Amino acid sequence: MKVAIIGSGYVGLTTGVCLSYVGHEVTCVDVDPRRVETLKSGAVPFHEPYLAEMMRSVKLQYTSDYSQAIPEAEVIFIAVGTPSRPDGSPNLEYLESAARSIGENLGKEYAVVVNKSTVPIGSGNWVESIVRDAFRKKNNGQPENFAVASNPEFLREGSAIHDSLFPDRVVIGADQRHALERLYSLYRPLLDQSFTAPPFLQRPDGFGAVPLISADLASAELIKYAANAFLALKISYINEIGQLAQRVGADVQLVARGMGLDARIGTRFLQAGIGWGGSCFGKDTAALVSTAAEYHLEMPIVQAARRINSRQRELVVERLLGAMKLLKGKTVGLLGLAFKPNTDDLRDAPALDIARRLIERGARVRAHDPVAVELAQRQHPDLAVTWCSTPEEAAEEVDALVLVTDWPEYRELDWTVLASRMRNPLVLDGRHFLDAEKLTALGFQYLAV
Ligand code: UDX
Repeated sequence: MKVAIIGSGYVGLTTGVCLSYVGHEVTCVDVDPRRVETLKSGAVPFHEPYLAEMMRSVKLQYTSDYSQAIPEAEVIFIAVGTPSRPDGSPNLEYLESAARSIGENLGKEYAVVVNKSTVPIGSGNWVESIVRDAFRKKNNGQPENFAVASNPEFLREGSAIHDSLFPDRVVIGADQRHALERLYSLYRPLLDQSFTAPPFLQRPDGFGAVPLISADLASAELIKYAANAFLALKISYINEIGQLAQRVGADVQLVARGMGLDARIGTRFLQAGIGWGGSCFGKDTAALVSTAAEYHLEMPIVQAARRINSRQRELVVERLLGAMKLLKGKTVGLLGLAFKPNTDDLRDAPALDIARRLIERGARVRAHDPVAVELAQRQHPDLAVTWCSTPEEAAEEVDALVLVTDWPEYRELDWTVLASRMRNPLVLDGRHFLDAEKLTALGFQYLAV
């Protein structure tokens, strides 16, 4: 099938390589010509495991010209960014301009325009009207031949290729049967798992056919928000329990395991710590609250999850203050900047927020990350942080080290070397990730969030 994908970010590019891998003819369109050049040269514009390998093993076309991709396409995915506005509502500027350009370039054959970006409920109809208006304007009022569908994306950064090739489920939503049928044919190889897994990414043991949820537009759009908000509140729930665990002297990790093994609850997303960051949970919970407000509905559970998440970041500062008594004039080293391991994404990264809070209270901050230091420096030139290229450098003369991101390499650190660099051997583990016994035996004061 001929597929066009608008937007070559995490979602667009991953969708493109995976659909191409299972046999479709894919063209990726991005309005940024520099990004298109990077992609044409075979480079990946961000850090995502296996994406480069996948790009090498398929034949993708890249262009910034809609007219090269849209007229022939049978399925057109919109995978552009929908960042939050200050009031929590998503900024739909890119979505609107993508929809208009699609309408201006649409061919005569039936095409399905698919919203893959996380968009507010009701956006399907809105996109449809923009595509229709643009088409008619360009074609002197001739009738258009397309439908709009929703196909929410559930991939996690850092395991995007794995999640796309071996998904838990595929959700498609449309109000026209013909559109659903076309998407069903498109996803058939993934649903049946009839493709050979790439050599570098084996199919999980026992992984069989993938369930398909075929829904109306509004339900598909709500599934995405409801799923992300639930995962976010699962994390906030264990963090709330964690605060109580600390006061009563319980071990939150044991509590999480004991809870999670109840099949109705599940063990995943119960890892207590600094809480969530990234491009989705903060944005999607805010959008859900803001959509509900338009209908005069409060969402107290989702709002509480957001409050707890923000409190976890403040807790880092409070715990350091409790242990050091003073922050003014002290130096704190941060291990990890990316919002989670295996990505260089810094959107809503807890480390940046924590750095800002520490600096506001008069502390100096040094920070390291295995892949995101340069990007942090570029994106946040005003943040008075000493950017470090090794963890040892981040430990230089510090009064405390905070483990912010659970990068696997931080488990392998030589803590004797780090201790010799630090002014004071205090470690605050933001992810329950380090070996507390070992660190205590080495003479560290070990604290956890
Ligand atoms: C998320 C959803 O998982 C994905 O389905 C959706 O499409 C996009 O948003 P992503 O933001 O890439 O994916 O990362 P995810 O692995 O879900 O982690 C989100 C945040 O939660 C990270 O900051 C992570 O450190 C934190 N987290 C996760 C916890 O604090 N505890 C946990 O138990 C799990």
